Amino acid sequence: VREPDLAGRHVVVSAGGTREPLDPVRFLGNRSSGKQGYALARTAAARGARVTLVAANTGLPDPAGVDVVRVGTAVQLREAVLKAAADADAVVMAAAVADFRPETYAAGKIKKKDGKEPDPIVLVRNPDILAELSADRARADQVVVGFAAETDDVLANGRAKLLRKGCDLLVVNEVGERRTFGSEENEAVVLGADGSETPVAHGPKEALAEIVWDLVTQRLG
Ligand code: C5P
Repeated sequence: VREPDLAGRHVVVSAGGTREPLDPVRFLGNRSSGKQGYALARTAAARGARVTLVAANTGLPDPAGVDVVRVGTAVQLREAVLKAAADADAVVMAAAVADFRPETYAAGKIKKKDGKEPDPIVLVRNPDILAELSADRARADQVVVGFAAETDDVLANGRAKLLRKGCDLLVVNEVGERRTFGSEENEAVVLGADGSETPVAHGPKEALAEIVWDLVTQRLG
């Protein structure tokens, strides 16, 4: 049995994938299952933390002993995460947040018009929640962790992203057609703003979660 090394700590985890609605029945979404975020929430609770899990469109049951806040869009996820982060020791952004959303929402279902080409979908940028959390920390000692899915030049792209986002740790996954999304397992490298590089061998998402909390606890005062 592990020591409750997160006892007295409040941690916030985002999980799942945002959905950006086009009309009442359609959305732009992604393939994130939420399993890695849920594994982070469960393991943090098992280590004694008070956990707020901000879940975007996951079909997973609420983990025991965790406060779950359900959201749909990136804008809703931002609001829920910023609110929970106000008194948090650590924030882990495991959710796949849509970079863009449709500029307009059609109150009625978009219809096809006979003999006419469809209207283009115009996108606008969503707020970058991880960058915002890192830049305007609710507490100076707060540890902020991001996730990145990369298909090529994993380490170089990961380093650049860590700098761009301004977070303390970035968990970099290599993704492809049959890897990571929806799977029970993961393989990653955790990059630290201090230059550290922690490889995580292929294994259960729980194992990666434990390593993330090890690295977070090292950085907490
Ligand atoms: O830029 P990219 O989407 O690859 O970054 C991934 C990381 O940034 C994840 O931790 C994700 O939760 C976070 N993110 C965010 N807000 C966005 C896009 C991504 O917080 N709009």
